[in-house]
Amino acid sequence: MTTLPIPLSNPKASYLEHQEAFDQAIKKFLDSGYYILGPEVQGFETAFAGFVGLKHCVTVNNGTDAIVLALRALGIGADDEVITVSHTAVATVAAIEEAGAIPVLVDVDTQSYCMDPNLIEAMISEKTKAILPVHLYGNPANMPEIMKIARKHGLLVVEDCAQAHGARINGQMAGTFGDAACFSFYPTKNLGAFGDGGAVLTNDPDTAGRLRLLRQYGWKDRYVSNIVGVNTRMDELQAAILNIKLPFLEADNQRRAQIAMRFCQALQNLPFQLPNMAENTEHVWHLYVIQSEDRDNLQRFLQENQIGFGIHYPQAVHQQPAYLGRLRGSDNLPVTEALIPRILSLPMYPQLAMEDVDRVIEALKAWAKQR
Ligand SMILES: Cc1ncc(COP(=O)(O)O)c(C=O)c1O
Repeated sequence: MTTLPIPLSNPKASYLEHQEAFDQAIKKFLDSGYYILGPEVQGFETAFAGFVGLKHCVTVNNGTDAIVLALRALGIGADDEVITVSHTAVATVAAIEEAGAIPVLVDVDTQSYCMDPNLIEAMISEKTKAILPVHLYGNPANMPEIMKIARKHGLLVVEDCAQAHGARINGQMAGTFGDAACFSFYPTKNLGAFGDGGAVLTNDPDTAGRLRLLRQYGWKDRYVSNIVGVNTRMDELQAAILNIKLPFLEADNQRRAQIAMRFCQALQNLPFQLPNMAENTEHVWHLYVIQSEDRDNLQRFLQENQIGFGIHYPQAVHQQPAYLGRLRGSDNLPVTEALIPRILSLPMYPQLAMEDVDRVIEALKAWAKQR
């Protein structure tokens, strides 16, 4: 009997799961004659704002633009410093620079892999305007502590929620702590479109109003720019897909959690460091990331056994050629730098069958034994 490869993630499985609904929605979209920023977008903005628990949701074309526009809408730009992490998707740091601001890096903590609140104050300067924590892998950053520091120093907070749709701390949704929350709907995300998508959420009507202008050339009235904006609109097709998927998000996150618990139980006595879950936080398992001191060897073994994996990320942002040696804070990121050569993401998506989870577990056990 031949066994099929197990992918790291599988957005097509989410299409097949609700295929009829998607096919109908695509036909309806084509028939509607309304293709960009129409009723599907409006419907999704209302529904997603309700899901997160914030008053305003402004959709954009992708999660990177969501961060750029959130910063610009909050008045952050040239010469302003934004404190963030290097252990993240490059998009976080790229977006800060695209907004014209200056990224300043702090290290992550060894347990959550998210921004270490204890290190923020040392990096605050006269230029600091905002803190931009990332809820990495689906695990929320320590927002209560980060908010205390932000309030003390009068700083704005923009949350990068691209990997954390539905994550909670003490029952409070990630994205509702700061001044703006930025989401990505890239196909593999916990809530993913079948193309690019993003959104900024906020409780502040003025910020929301500026976001609506910024995402479409600064137009208040059509063809007349009140401020300098860009084109980063969500199209109706992606909004229609997201409207179908949103009601399943919580259940999908629970399926991810079941898979994660199976991994946690089965792998605990093997030579891996497993993810930690802080008390009172709800991790939504965008990725299940283990650490191994023998990662190269493990990668080869998984490849031979047709088990998909990922490295998120192979280089921290400050180590990448485009950023090397030029970001403040780069010289003091020991936890980030120790994580990079050890991390490995195991297959994780809601439709992943438990038999396949067990195949991954058996392969890891076999690797540990023959090592
Ligand atoms: C942490 C983080 N921030 C921002 C982004 C940017 O999102 P997008 O790819 O939709 O631009 C991503 C996704 O790649 C991400 O993982």
